[in-house]
Amino acid sequence: MSELVLTTDIKEYPLMRRGKVRDIYDLGDTLLFVASDRISAFDVVMPNGIPDKGRVLTQMSLFWFDFLKDVVANHLVTAKIDEYPVKLRQYRSALEGRSMIVVKAERVDAECIVRGYISGSMWKELVAARKAGSNTVHGFDFPATLQESEKLPHTLFTPSSKNDDGHDENISYEQMVTIVGAETAALCRDKSLAVYQKAADYALTKGIIIADTKFEFGYKNGVFTLIDEVLSPDSSRFWPVSEYRVGKGQSSFDKQPIRDWLELTGWNKKPPAPVLPDEVVMASSKRYLEAMRLLTGRG
Ligand SMILES: Nc1ncnc2c1ncn2[C@@H]1O[C@H](COP(=O)(O)OP(=O)(O)OP(=O)(O)O)[C@@H](O)[C@H]1O
Ligand SMILES: [Mg+2]
Repeated sequence: MSELVLTTDIKEYPLMRRGKVRDIYDLGDTLLFVASDRISAFDVVMPNGIPDKGRVLTQMSLFWFDFLKDVVANHLVTAKIDEYPVKLRQYRSALEGRSMIVVKAERVDAECIVRGYISGSMWKELVAARKAGSNTVHGFDFPATLQESEKLPHTLFTPSSKNDDGHDENISYEQMVTIVGAETAALCRDKSLAVYQKAADYALTKGIIIADTKFEFGYKNGVFTLIDEVLSPDSSRFWPVSEYRVGKGQSSFDKQPIRDWLELTGWNKKPPAPVLPDEVVMASSKRYLEAMRLLTGRG
């Protein structure tokens, strides 16, 4: 097990952003991404960390960047501490395995969501549309017989706007074109679908359904590039094939033990969240490690 890291405190470089999970430092032309062991459930960060989670997230992204490099360029510079600026090497124990240096890209301001299966907000919206007598959501026509968690007849690209206040909204492809331009919108759509297809086909052979996922893109010296984290349980819905049943919500690979426990406590889903018991923390940690082992073959 690696050392538990809830927050980092690197004094030599400015902290650019502290998200729910990652601490990001500005190194000039590059960024240092550190995936902490923080975990959120129902959009609230939990008081406890999950051992190995940050390392798993980082190792998965690294695995996918390499696996997908023939489909699209990515922002990775290095994840080897010995190649980091000298001033960062004193933080080796906090950074090793859980961090990477990436090129600062010109971000495309859209979240590129790909859905292979119907779940989450899209399923809720379809249920609501059906109550109103329609099978159309955001301009997409769904089969009248489609059930919750079922594989979609065609993989969907459903972008959303990227608002820094965290309230992203679904936008149509046409709206995306007006925001980012026709050429960039087409690249986002085509690369998102190609990357998802290659990754989802592979994951299925390893016992994991990637139901949906979110990508971000940018331009690196004018080259269209995959940025942010990719295809981790934090940016995607991973479902174990062995537990998959159409017609109901699926248990999530990673957060299910936490969500189940929180539901039992009757917590109102507003901060602060209750402290998670050790067995819940360890069950979640085990699931992250299991997902990584299945996908990458690495422990
Ligand atoms: N190579 C890159 N160049 C520039 N910006 C990037 C790059 N890769 C990722 N980003 C941006 O860095 C930010 C990472 O923030 P992070 O995901 O940690 O927090 P968040 O998205 O604000 O919140 P959440 O914790 O909900 O994800 C995102 O806004 C993302 O678009
Ligand atoms: Mg994010």
